[in-house]
Amino acid sequence: MADIQVSIVLALAPKKAFDVLVEELRMGLARLGLSLEPGPKGRMTEGPHLVGRVRDWTRGKGLSLAWSAPPWESGQGTTVELRLRAVKGGTRVTLTHRGWGKAVGGKAELAGWFASDVLAPVLAAAAPTALGDWVTDRRARRPTGAAARKTYGDPIFHYPNFAVILEELALTKDDYLLEVACGGGALLKRALKSGCRAAAIDFSPDMVRLAQEQNRDAVAAGRLEVREADAGSLPFTDATFTCAAMTGVLGFLPDPVRALAEIRRVLKPGGRFVGLGADPELKGTPAAPEPIASRLRFYDSDELGALARKAGFEEVKVIRRDLEPYARKAGVPAYALALFSGEKGGGARFLLARKG
Ligand SMILES: C[S@@+](CC[C@H](N)C(=O)[O-])C[C@H]1O[C@@H](n2cnc3c(N)ncnc32)[C@H](O)[C@@H]1O
Repeated sequence: MADIQVSIVLALAPKKAFDVLVEELRMGLARLGLSLEPGPKGRMTEGPHLVGRVRDWTRGKGLSLAWSAPPWESGQGTTVELRLRAVKGGTRVTLTHRGWGKAVGGKAELAGWFASDVLAPVLAAAAPTALGDWVTDRRARRPTGAAARKTYGDPIFHYPNFAVILEELALTKDDYLLEVACGGGALLKRALKSGCRAAAIDFSPDMVRLAQEQNRDAVAAGRLEVREADAGSLPFTDATFTCAAMTGVLGFLPDPVRALAEIRRVLKPGGRFVGLGADPELKGTPAAPEPIASRLRFYDSDELGALARKAGFEEVKVIRRDLEPYARKAGVPAYALALFSGEKGGGARFLLARKG
């Protein structure tokens, strides 16, 4: 039986490294269908099955997990250890999976499993496409992690867009607003000041949690619900909302017409929609840098309007706004104001649409 060992040196102090690793491991395992309950009495489950138990858990030093034998094998399971050791410039993190391989088969089978299921994914994760996808997801397409939480909790560079959207929506306390792809809930926070009720969706669990935390009082008061869902399939009944908004996501949607048709479906007759476009002029600028830019779709004014018409909206208009005055008002730092200037190309595009 073999031991698997993976190691990395992180430029973080051991306790910080431990906290980040445990949180990211928990979320990464969840995406793969495994649930890690952290802590000294923690467990790992796969659906209804217990697959591991925490044996040792010391913040800053490491943890170990007794991994159950696979159900078709009798006998002992294996042991997984994550050890952290302070080294010059940071912390060496080493994962050792001991006694592995019995369930796989003969020696060549073990080599086959190790190459195909351990080495190949490690190498593929570092290849340009996978890495570009990871960076895009992490930062913008499906934000996750501490840096994303910080950015989307207070997205200063989005406040100019938010201001235009709110101006166009002109919310009142009688409105019931839907926000699609709400990120950290910063637009909701501003919208709720009108006294309206709101619901929102996002498909990043991390962003859903953040949006709920950022609007804790409104959630507690029953004025806001935030759900994990895909823009292509909204978990709301027909004709629920008086208005809807969507910002910073259009270019990422694989099927924007479907998402807009879903928004139209859940709007009441006469319901209004305001969304930020995905301006071709932004490609490759700090607003849409690589590797994100090549994973985005951009729409000129005609294309943007056509999306809403194809989705069934009866009244459709594309407006352009110079965001620089909004950026000044929102407190965007002086060095970044030029990015919002509408002089190049006539200003940011917004899609306004109404259900007949
Ligand atoms: C760049 S962020 C913008 C967040 C927020 N609207 C803002 O402007 O600060 C894009 C957001 O869209 C979400 N998103 C992307 N594709 C989605 C989809 N198909 N369904 C639901 N949410 C999606 C991401 O999880 C992320 O929170």
